[in-house]
Amino acid sequence: MEKQEFDSLLQAKTEEIDRIIGKFLPREEGWQKTLIQAMNYSVLAGGKRLRPMLMLETYRMLGGRGTEIQPFLAAIEMIHTYSLVHDDLPAMDNDEYRRGRETTWKVYGEAGAILAGDGLLNLAFETAAGAFALVDRGDPAALARVADALLLLAQKAGYQGMIGGQSVDVEAEGRKEPVTEAQLNYIHRCKTGALIVASMQVGGILAGADGETLRTLEQCAEDVGMAFQIRDDILDVSGDSRELGKPVGSDEENHKQTYVTFYGLEEAGRLVETLSEEAVNTYLRIMKGDHEFLDHLILMLAGRRK
Ligand code: IPE
Ligand code: IPE
Ligand code: MG
Ligand code: MG
Ligand code: MG
Repeated sequence: MEKQEFDSLLQAKTEEIDRIIGKFLPREEGWQKTLIQAMNYSVLAGGKRLRPMLMLETYRMLGGRGTEIQPFLAAIEMIHTYSLVHDDLPAMDNDEYRRGRETTWKVYGEAGAILAGDGLLNLAFETAAGAFALVDRGDPAALARVADALLLLAQKAGYQGMIGGQSVDVEAEGRKEPVTEAQLNYIHRCKTGALIVASMQVGGILAGADGETLRTLEQCAEDVGMAFQIRDDILDVSGDSRELGKPVGSDEENHKQTYVTFYGLEEAGRLVETLSEEAVNTYLRIMKGDHEFLDHLILMLAGRRK
């Protein structure tokens, strides 16, 4: 696939995902209108939509053709966006820009951003549960796939996943002693990896993938998630805040220990390459179905500037 073809496919797929997400966003009305505005504010600011894209591409690669994937695409982006809204709060990373706009707490205040995040998290599960109505009620296997996908999403977003990682990340900042490699690995695997694993595995579960395929998807997504967060750490040092739509230097300001402080820029860059190549050449390679776009997506992410 030529770069130009990939770029136009990427744009078309991002627009498709934006349209799907838009269908599930609440109308800004009622007494709680300000809350709903704050919820929509960050979702509508855009973003790469990487997680829904990985979910949809995995689903299609494995033969999924239904509409029950749609509420899950919106749900994973709502969970991801809420994690960013809370991550930017003064009590966490204290950042003022995100997705090219002022952060939710800068516009709606801290209480507003906390509530907007809470609202998005609940809306995510309300939305995903809507998938039960999109499969044949007389087909127990289809109903069970939606139930399994919901369970996995809840686990990966919670204390065993993203929130677990964020909590160890914040705790590590307050400590004098340096983090160990094992701690850093845990933080990255959970705070970022867990939602990326959930994305690919939910796609696989809904497409009816078998256990072995789901395990391979997990290994693939773990590599992608780790590479993605290391690249994020690199961009926090060497990126351009205008291109990124968020500040650079935030990690240093917070005295955060990252893969860059631990291994240095060069070695961290090599790790991103190695993990991305392994995701494609070891894991995606053995997948049945067309994964050409996914291959290119994962390799593109390794060198992304935003
Ligand atoms: C940012 O995620 C937070 C990390 C896990 C590194 P993204 O880089 O996917 O942010 P958006 O969704 O494109 O804004
Ligand atoms: C955040 O990691 C991961 C989340 C779960 C939100 P970072 O704190 O490095 O993400 P950015 O750099 O603010 O996007
Ligand atoms: Mg953070
Ligand atoms: Mg942050
Ligand atoms: Mg970062």
